[in-house]
Amino acid sequence: MSKLIIEGARRLKGEINIQGAKNSILPILAASLVTRAECVIHNCPIISDVKNTLKILEHLGCVVKFQENTVIVNSENITKNSIPNVLMREMRSSIIFLGALISSVGSAEISLPGGCELGPRPIDMHIEGLRQLGLRIDESHGILECGNEDGLEGCNISLSFPSVGATENLIIASVKARGTTVINNIAKEPEIMDLIAFLNSSGAKIESQGEGTLVIEGVKALHGTEYTIIPDRIAAVTYMSAAAVTVGDLLLKNVVKEHIGAVIPVFEEAGCTIESDTENSLRIIAPTRPYFNRIVRTMPYPGFPTDAQAPVMAMSCLADGTSVFVENIFTNRYKHVGELLRFGADIKVEGRVAIVEGVKRLFGAEVTAMDLRGAAALVVAGLGAEGTTKISGLSHIDRGYENLENNLESVGASIKRV
Ligand code: EPZ
Repeated sequence: MSKLIIEGARRLKGEINIQGAKNSILPILAASLVTRAECVIHNCPIISDVKNTLKILEHLGCVVKFQENTVIVNSENITKNSIPNVLMREMRSSIIFLGALISSVGSAEISLPGGCELGPRPIDMHIEGLRQLGLRIDESHGILECGNEDGLEGCNISLSFPSVGATENLIIASVKARGTTVINNIAKEPEIMDLIAFLNSSGAKIESQGEGTLVIEGVKALHGTEYTIIPDRIAAVTYMSAAAVTVGDLLLKNVVKEHIGAVIPVFEEAGCTIESDTENSLRIIAPTRPYFNRIVRTMPYPGFPTDAQAPVMAMSCLADGTSVFVENIFTNRYKHVGELLRFGADIKVEGRVAIVEGVKRLFGAEVTAMDLRGAAALVVAGLGAEGTTKISGLSHIDRGYENLENNLESVGASIKRV
């Protein structure tokens, strides 16, 4: 089993090009099924979640090509409506195929999703909204068998919580429903807007109406398209955290600053200078020692993103001050805390609350990653710690980060995969 070996406390200086957004490409690849044509998608990150999604598309009968950071998917000939458990369990986002299969072939047989163990990952909002659209859904022994011979009927849906996945599934399911679908209280993450832009570029009729409401006019068919996805805002925050713990000076290219509007002030308050001399770049210059003395509450977009909680917590471990993290989105998203303590961090967790007392120094440790963003937190801590850090559980990193160690090495980190 490979490990990352980091010799920490080395200053990072240089520039990094931010990858395409994992949480955009996954729903967009699923949605490409609905076009029943060829879609060319640019700025696609080379990560295992994408490779697994492409395996599912090929299993369903699509022709797939992945060259550099461009994916070409042709969904003219879909030959199946079921996704085997072994493919579904690879990641949480596979549930997004439910709406895509319904809109493309009218039925679906999938097992309940896998993915990061961030506490129970229910799909009640997905199911409730799809049933409101008229989808018949039978569930037995973890298998969802869904179908609707005469298609879906547009309706008015209100989400009880702005769930990202439920919003995506309902958008994809309703683009070809009869009549108009209104979805209230949608998730407003940039990746949702990316999915909407992709679908509209392939002939869907989706409009935002006021705060958190979408109006979707069902169309008969979609067509192929060429689309470029947005940069990965969480990858950007991860590199910012790495800069903050290494007195770093990083120029991040391909960043949409407004996508991390709730995070930039946190780094500025910590004493980092954030500059941007071009539209899509951000330069972060860290102080000798960050100061971090605040409450961080994770919220739906545009609030502080839950995916940024772990890497930013790693930074707070080495900062002066006491911070309180409140994880409002997932019930079990502190699995990185146990591993951060091995570096000498001072963190206390009580339910959704984690209290971090910044310590003067962290020391290299042997740690295990247990979910994607928790893995990123361990890399950040290893970069800031004195001595050698060994990180196992790299499959979690490879799910969502393209070239993480090469990017970090290119700006001065001593990080090797062995
Ligand atoms: C998406 O997960 C992202 N994954 C997550 O990123 C991200 O953390 C999350 O949105 C929140 O932003 C992808 O886009 C592939 P949710 P998703 O539905 O769709 C509960 C990463 O690190 N809920 O908004 O699963 C749910 O249990 C990953 O890149 C229900 O109760 O998130 C959770 O507590 C991790 N019932 C909360 O809502 C439902 O039907 C938010 O979940 C659906 C969700």
